Amino acid sequence: METVVSGIRPTGNLHLGNYFGAVKSFITMQEQYKCFYFIADWHSLTTHPHPANLRQNVRTILAEYLACGVDPDKATIYVQSDIREIPELYLYLNMNAYIGELERVTSFKEKVRQNPNNVNAGLLTYPTLMAADIIIHHADKVPVGKDQEQNMEMARHFARRFNQIYEVEYFKEPASFSLSDKAVKVPGLDGTGKMGKSTGNAIYLIDDESTIKKKVMRAVTDQGPTTPNQVKPEPIENIFTLMQIVSDPSTYEYFNDKYNACEIRYGDMKKQLAADINAFCAPIRERIEYYSHNEALLSQVAEKGATAARESAARTLQDVRQIIGFRRN
Ligand code: TYM
Repeated sequence: METVVSGIRPTGNLHLGNYFGAVKSFITMQEQYKCFYFIADWHSLTTHPHPANLRQNVRTILAEYLACGVDPDKATIYVQSDIREIPELYLYLNMNAYIGELERVTSFKEKVRQNPNNVNAGLLTYPTLMAADIIIHHADKVPVGKDQEQNMEMARHFARRFNQIYEVEYFKEPASFSLSDKAVKVPGLDGTGKMGKSTGNAIYLIDDESTIKKKVMRAVTDQGPTTPNQVKPEPIENIFTLMQIVSDPSTYEYFNDKYNACEIRYGDMKKQLAADINAFCAPIRERIEYYSHNEALLSQVAEKGATAARESAARTLQDVRQIIGFRRN
């Protein structure tokens, strides 16, 4: 059976980008693969979170995984920092990673630009830690959104490099996975780029009806098309993309036809989109409420996941130590 590994950083609540880029695949894949889903709390240390926030955010993602339908009886759900073998593999991979190639990673360069006062080594070696997460369980498939493509390329690269240096065929090259034929990029509604926590344009699974409506009604639009079948400018395309992701295909078709006939009323479209997002989020929201108050269950899930993930990771590290030339323990 093929193995699936993926994770999400605990930096706040899950938003629609996280759901449609990753979590939706988690739920589908747990039915037919051996799945490892974790909370990437080590990765979140690059921004130096306060310990109380870190703890709370890990709980939040755990509750939200369960609320979305990630099932601890079908998948191994764990917290990255419970698996000490991961930093050991990270160390080995770092020995084979070159500063130049790490400095060329686009997301690193972006972070340097955004935060010139916090260019730490963890940020630079983010891709080797992510590679360790993935190859430690010999993942075949990694469900992620489009923004993780370069990190995935690096993971394959480091797996290959390890094999080359030690002249073994040990690590597999993991493939990115998405449910549709192309990588998912959930757009923001502020007229630019993707939906993200740091960009302040996210709609969260936990958002209530009026918050969703407020966010959607604020979406950037224009004067409307003036010629039939006009190409949509980016902010408009983004609203349509979100509708395509969340709404019924017939709803999308209806508004698309209206646009093409120059009869679109953005207000109506936004109201419909807000209603559809709310219909999608409402049941998840209720379950988040339930799970986030069930501390005992969350601990139990994390404990069970840690045991299974440690077992898998320890097997790999035993091989890796031997391959590198350390004594077998
Ligand atoms: P993170 O925490 O930023 O995001 C978690 C997942 O959500 C996806 N995502 C999106 N997908 C589509 N459209 C969007 N607007 C959008 N925003 C977020 C991301 O692609 C991701 O799949 N480096 C990872 C965490 C990580 C990881 C791993 C993932 C650490 N180790 C090993 C897979 C395997 C990250 O920062 O994701």
